[in-house]
Amino acid sequence: MTQLQGKRIVITGAASGIGRASCLLAATQGASVVAVDQSEAVTQTRDEVIGAGGNAIAIQASVADENAVNSFIQSCVDEFGGIDGIYANAGIGGGGKPFLELTPEDWQRTLGVNTIGVFLCVKHAVPHFTAQGSGSIVCTASVAGLRANAGGVDYSASKAGVISIAQTVAYQLYGTGVRINAICPGLIETGMTAPIFDRARTRGTEGRIGQVNPTARFGQPREIAEMACFLLSDAASYVNGQAIPVDGGLSASHPWVYPQHG
Ligand SMILES: NC(=O)c1ccc[n+]([C@@H]2O[C@H](COP(=O)([O-])OP(=O)(O)OC[C@H]3O[C@@H](n4cnc5c(N)ncnc54)[C@H](O)[C@@H]3O)[C@@H](O)[C@H]2O)c1
Repeated sequence: MTQLQGKRIVITGAASGIGRASCLLAATQGASVVAVDQSEAVTQTRDEVIGAGGNAIAIQASVADENAVNSFIQSCVDEFGGIDGIYANAGIGGGGKPFLELTPEDWQRTLGVNTIGVFLCVKHAVPHFTAQGSGSIVCTASVAGLRANAGGVDYSASKAGVISIAQTVAYQLYGTGVRINAICPGLIETGMTAPIFDRARTRGTEGRIGQVNPTARFGQPREIAEMACFLLSDAASYVNGQAIPVDGGLSASHPWVYPQHG
């Protein structure tokens, strides 16, 4: 498949989960990838991409550090001759503390990565995109940014902020040829959600995970990567300013009780 043939794309949170799956899929679809993560395991993603015949470099950096963000975006230009898209995906769970226990420091940490980190990727990619009159920005928000019960208050607010960035920046980029969209994943099995899966497996309740959505299962990182690569591609040329749930249908419903079968 060549949906991203010739595209030069930066992907953050690339050492694990959704970001790693997106690097692998984007490279399979023909993109040259700058894989960015604060974890040194990002080199494994690069090695996997190259091992599969793709093109990638790895950069260890934090999206919460503005100089580092500017620098890894410039690395895409230096290494691959330009930048066509960025997937601002890196995020942290925030720890899920009860809201009365949250401190300003907790808030600053969660917002610093999940919301300001996304903003910094947008801020430093956009001048390249507006100069060339094209570019696609994709951000990872969450169903937690749409409604309650998918994370702590700080995490949910940080993701609502990402949705707002996609909506407001789309209009600030009016007529420039640059698009921005957010993906709202449901429950996906990744490093971030590993404790949920580990607990359920220990209790023998794994079969109940994901049963509250009509697809009746949890999701895989590849299923989010598919949406990210579509939004990064020219096939999504008329999709702009949207927050798109990829959640098995979870966010389509009013509250309901899972019926017991049998
Ligand atoms: N897994 C889910 O169910 C789910 C649901 C909704 C949204 N999300 C979002 O998906 C995105 C990807 O998470 P995932 O589920 O793949 O989890 P993950 O923990 O497997 O991957 C997240 C990656 O982001 C990296 N990261 C964290 N802080 C960083 C920073 N400051 N700079 C650079 N890299 C940093 C981590 O090192 C890690 O490799 C996150 O934004 C998360 O909030 C996940």
